[in-house]
Amino acid sequence: MNIIGPDYLVFGVDNVADCVQYMTDYGLKPCDIDESGGWLEALDGTGVLIRPRHDPRLPPAMETATTLRETVYGVADEATLQAIEAELGKDREVQRGEDGVLRCVDDMGFALGFRITRRRTLDLPGEASHAPGAPAARAVNALGASNDMPALPRSLSHVVYFVPDPDRAEAFYQRLGFVCTDRFADTGPFLRPGGTQDHHTLFLIQTPPFMKGIEHFTFHMGGPTEVLVAGTRFVEKGYESFWGPGRHQLGSNWFWYFNSPMGCHVEYDADMDLHDEQWTARVAAPGADNSQYFLFHYQEKWFPGGPPAKH
Ligand SMILES: [Fe+2]
Repeated sequence: MNIIGPDYLVFGVDNVADCVQYMTDYGLKPCDIDESGGWLEALDGTGVLIRPRHDPRLPPAMETATTLRETVYGVADEATLQAIEAELGKDREVQRGEDGVLRCVDDMGFALGFRITRRRTLDLPGEASHAPGAPAARAVNALGASNDMPALPRSLSHVVYFVPDPDRAEAFYQRLGFVCTDRFADTGPFLRPGGTQDHHTLFLIQTPPFMKGIEHFTFHMGGPTEVLVAGTRFVEKGYESFWGPGRHQLGSNWFWYFNSPMGCHVEYDADMDLHDEQWTARVAAPGADNSQYFLFHYQEKWFPGGPPAKH
């Protein structure tokens, strides 16, 4: 099944204006926003939909406190939608909405949708980094960074769920062609659907049932410098860094996580590994040593100058 990855996430929140402002400051473009929330999107048209918690247009809330109300995947073609409908129709209700989205609920209770993707094909350069021994990555006199350089989310990368039964959850996504690229033992798998080579578009973490819901979601940036620039701008707007910046081990993606008014973390990421069927999944022990190669902490800008210290 040619599932590409999440096209958009739907949230039902108490503080619509705060969440819209947060996602706007994060770098998404607000479109069609009013007091009942609305749509915000990245450069390729993937995005998030923010609505009030009790908005009747939303799928039912989970029994937990999570604000995630739906994950809608983009697929390549109608044949994939029909294959999903045939597979999941064997043991659950699957309905095609007026918006063309095929909807169901997964085995953990997460509302899912599938539609022919509306991602726009991007034609943007990635980060270009000079290295001795390699051809010049940028033209002579072209600057590698600047104060006004763009650092905008390009594409919805992945979503992470807290689930009480990761084996059962993984088995459900295997029916849709997701494969495990790597795994944290006794925690959960990183999953890649058939329509992308990204290391993961879904990661599952085992938790007690009362925590079930979204842990974080992430948009891909154009490179590590964009992660650092966007994250710095986000901190300077007053948002709270949670973890990062750093570089993950499984997936190699650069990361920087922030607390959010949606009650989950929101991440910037860049330069995730690509894999195909030749790849053999690794199993790592969960813990800090296997979760990142290095970890930095934000500090306010500084310069080695100024008057002598007073004693
Ligand atoms: Fe992540």
